[in-house]
Amino acid sequence: MNGDRFVVAGGVPLNGDVHISGAKNAALPVIAAALLTREECIIDNVPLIEDIRKILEIIRQLGAEVDLDEASHRVRIRAADLHSYEVPRELGQAMRASFLVTGPLLARMGRAVAPAPGGCAIGRRPVNADVKGFTAMGAQVENVDGEYRVHADRLVGTRIYLDYPSHTGTENLLMAACLAKGKTVIKHASAEPEVVALADCLIRMGAKIRGAGSSLIEVEGVGELYGVHLRCLPDRMEAGTYAIAGLLTGGDVTVHDVVVPNLDPIAHKLAEVGAIVEEGDSWLRIRANGHLNAVELQTLPYPGFPTDVQSCFVTLLTQAAGTSFVHERVFDDRLGYVNELRKLGARAEITDSHTALIKGPTRLRGAQVRASDLRAGAALILAGLVAEGTTEITDIYHVDRGYEQVDGKLRALGARIERVGAREPATA
Ligand code: EPU
Repeated sequence: MNGDRFVVAGGVPLNGDVHISGAKNAALPVIAAALLTREECIIDNVPLIEDIRKILEIIRQLGAEVDLDEASHRVRIRAADLHSYEVPRELGQAMRASFLVTGPLLARMGRAVAPAPGGCAIGRRPVNADVKGFTAMGAQVENVDGEYRVHADRLVGTRIYLDYPSHTGTENLLMAACLAKGKTVIKHASAEPEVVALADCLIRMGAKIRGAGSSLIEVEGVGELYGVHLRCLPDRMEAGTYAIAGLLTGGDVTVHDVVVPNLDPIAHKLAEVGAIVEEGDSWLRIRANGHLNAVELQTLPYPGFPTDVQSCFVTLLTQAAGTSFVHERVFDDRLGYVNELRKLGARAEITDSHTALIKGPTRLRGAQVRASDLRAGAALILAGLVAEGTTEITDIYHVDRGYEQVDGKLRALGARIERVGAREPATA
């Protein structure tokens, strides 16, 4: 945690090309999966963000050898000899994805101890799907002093029904099932592209998996998994953020190195708002056409509109003509940042805990606002880009958890944004 803040001077249309980093939510499970084998795993295109450093520290403390080469965005992991199955409490509590190591530890060592995971404060974040699945596979799970203790001499494949298609829950069970005895069927599984990327990684490591990307995943357990060399899936949330930044400021931005079909839910909605959308093999160009329309939007598990882009979209809708409604259907409490947008003059209100009503277009004015979580921070940066005057965003350590070089990438598109240390005066 640090006291840095972003200072943004608004009013400049963003134009140009931006290269999209590897996805936080794809790199995290793939790093956890490296615990499933004694052999070396090499992952390229790893984003250089705080959550990745944290999970690498967790697996290092479990006994894995980790070598992150920042210049090439490549991490090498060799988990030949794990000497611990306990996730360090403080690191575990710092992020949701820390729980992703429990499936691999259970499969590999027969035991895992991990604190109830933390992460962004955006509503309830239970690990019931993981716990119920482990239990169905024969594990004993206890919760002592806020810590999960899981034990199974050998997991046994079974039929698992998820009452909610939990994203990380599906990933955890998928990893646990790879080395279980017999067949595991996960019904009502998450179909998020990051789950598919994890399944692809596991298949390349020797796992037998069918159906990833659908709501029914089948895993035939194998005796051993092997090393792999792969490239991390691009970050569709980061791509969505820059696409919206371009459109919001009346500019013309092309996001590169993306998997275009994974961006369909975002591109479709941007077109409805009024963007001119063009696509190529691995790029998407978003251009403003001079007018933004109000829309109704709901977030849903993939292929629905992603909850992680909801906040940036709300900022966009402050500039759209008419009344927009945004329904957050994934998390219980992911609209709190709307109150910060109001400090900039947004005519937006939370009508019930899951719905925001936004009237536009509104001329935003710079103010001091606080990032309460990762995506809230992104939405406030975007608001600063279109606001008159200077906006200061504090608590930006949340943004550093998930966006690589957000200020540098925005500056390359023409934005006036500076990172300012806790005691430095504003300069942007
Ligand atoms: N849920 C349950 N029961 C469970 C698990 C979850 O009801 O057993 C509910 C939660 O209460 C929540 C909803 O399901 O309301 C979504 O939870 P899910 O478990 O699917 O999400 P997650 O695994 O906690 C991941 C991403 C999030 C992303 C969501 C949805 C990682 C590390 N995190 O979270 O990313 O928003 O899936 O796609 O992969 C972010 O990057 O900013 C972020 C929050």
